[in-house]
This record gives sequence, structure tokens and C-alpha cells, in this order.
Amino acid sequence: MMVNATHTAAPLLQVKHLRTHFFTDAGVVKSVEDVSFVLNAGETLAVVGESGSGKSVTSLSIMGLIPNPPGRIVGGEILFRTREGTVVDLAKLPVKALRKLRGRDIAMIFQEPMTSLDPVFTVGDQIAETVALHLGMNRAEAMKRALEMLELVEIPAAKQRLSEYPHQLSGGMRQRVMIALALSCKPSLLIADEPTTALDVTIQAQILALLDKLRRDIGMGVLSWSSCTAGVWSKRATSTRCSRDPAIPTRAACSSACPGVRSTTNSQWLERAGA
Ligand SMILES: Nc1ncnc2c1ncn2[C@@H]1O[C@H](COP(=O)(O)OP(=O)(O)O)[C@@H](O)[C@H]1O
Ligand SMILES: [Mg+2]
Repeated sequence: MMVNATHTAAPLLQVKHLRTHFFTDAGVVKSVEDVSFVLNAGETLAVVGESGSGKSVTSLSIMGLIPNPPGRIVGGEILFRTREGTVVDLAKLPVKALRKLRGRDIAMIFQEPMTSLDPVFTVGDQIAETVALHLGMNRAEAMKRALEMLELVEIPAAKQRLSEYPHQLSGGMRQRVMIALALSCKPSLLIADEPTTALDVTIQAQILALLDKLRRDIGMGVLSWSSCTAGVWSKRATSTRCSRDPAIPTRAACSSACPGVRSTTNSQWLERAGA
């Protein structure tokens, strides 16, 4: 199902009839089957779905990170507007071109911060290395950017954190470091795959507020996936959709957890909230 785009410029991201399957010994797993949506620059699109509904597989498809074999995008288009203004189909882009976009134009944050943080490097080194690689900064400039990013994500004692290792930080702080790392090249698209599910409720609210502030500061589009209980997003989101199978009882629970979420029975994803 397509969401109406009201903007005249090409959308930042337009996913059309995406299908991603895994070819396993036990058979074909159709993880993503005919998913379509539009995200405009500077907008948040929050999608709510129960575990196993294909949130991570959709994210990884956009990032070009589906493990092949056994997985493959078997249909559809992922149209992305690059910084240069050209529209490319991420589903068909060569690996090298995708690698260039990842981290620079498109960044992703995960539920578990250690997915993207390396335990053996200091926080400062990890951020500096990323900006040096993508933006061609020298060491001093890159370290300066690393400090700026830690300040941007409101980490206490930011300067001191530069020389600390991930294990020395609390869970909430690690999440902030992962966000600082993801945003260090000021991407135009941030994919947030259940970024707060593992955190306690107070920290969840802080991180969501921070992401919303950064969206405005950097002007990036945010595609945020959450499980049904993370209703907080629906208040901030431009639109909210829910899980695909009308027979699944979590849909009712989800609707009550997320005020403003409306449900339909005839499509894989639910319609735009308030539409
Ligand atoms: N590497 C894989 N091999 C086989 N099936 C997979 C693989 N990765 C994901 N899947 C399947 O794809 C479906 C969607 O998974 P996922 O996107 O991780 O769900 P969600 O993130 O919404 O919880 C699940 O049924 C899952 O078992
Ligand atoms: Mg997932």
C-alpha cells in the first residue's frame, strides 16, 4: 500500500513493493512481502510491528546488508535521493556504491549498541575513524567532530568520554554514543531499528526526545521501527502503522498502546495515522 506524498520534491526514500526472501533448507521464508512507503526529508515515519513482522529485514534491505545467501531482495524498488540530488535504486546498486552511501548518507542504529560499537577502541577513536573515512578529515578535525557529536547527544563529561571504552559506560550512555557515531557524518536518512526496546522507560523517553531534536538539528529523515509496546513514538510520528496480520491479537494491544494508531484489515501495513 502506498502512502500519499504531498511534497513536490522527490521523496528522500520511496520503497515500492519490496519483497525480501530467505532461501533456507526448510523452505522459502517470505520475510518482507510487498511493502511500500514514502519518507520525505526531515520527516519521521514510525512503523510499529510485532516481533518477526519484518522490521529488521526491511531495514537491512534498505542498507544493502541482507546476508546473501540465504537472503535476497526478490522484487521491488528502494528509491533513495542522495546528497547530490540523484535518485538511486538501493535494491540494485553495486556493493561499492552502497558502501559509499552507508554511514555517510544513510545511517542505522540498533537495539543493542554493541552491534555497532567496537569494544577494543575508545569512543573517540571510533567516531573519529568514521568521519575520517567518509568525510576525509584529518585526525585533529575528526577528533573535534567526535567531541561535537558527544556534546550533541548530551553525554555528561563529553571530553572525558572520548578516551573511554564502551564497557565503561552505562547502557543509556552507550546508546547515546551509538547515536553520535551513526550521526557523525550528518546523514540525510537515519534508520532506527527498535533503538530503545532494551532500555528502561525513563531512558527510552530521553533517547526518543534526543532523536527528535537531532532530526530537527540535522534535518534528516527518520525511519523508526518499534515493537507494539513503544507507544511513545506515535505522539511524535508523522505517521504510524501497525502489524500486518489482522488475526494477530497483538494488533489490538498495539492500537491501545499507541493512541492515534488506526488499523485496517486489508493490507500488510496499517494506514497512515489520521489519514
Ligand atoms: N537470516 C535469516 N534466515 C532466515 N529467516 C530469516 C533470517 N533473518 C530473518 N528471517 C525471518 O524473517 C522474518 C522477519 O524477521 P525480522 O525482520 O528480524 O523481524 P522483526 O525485526 O520485525 O522482529 C522472521 O520470520 C525471521 O525468522
Ligand atoms: Mg527486529
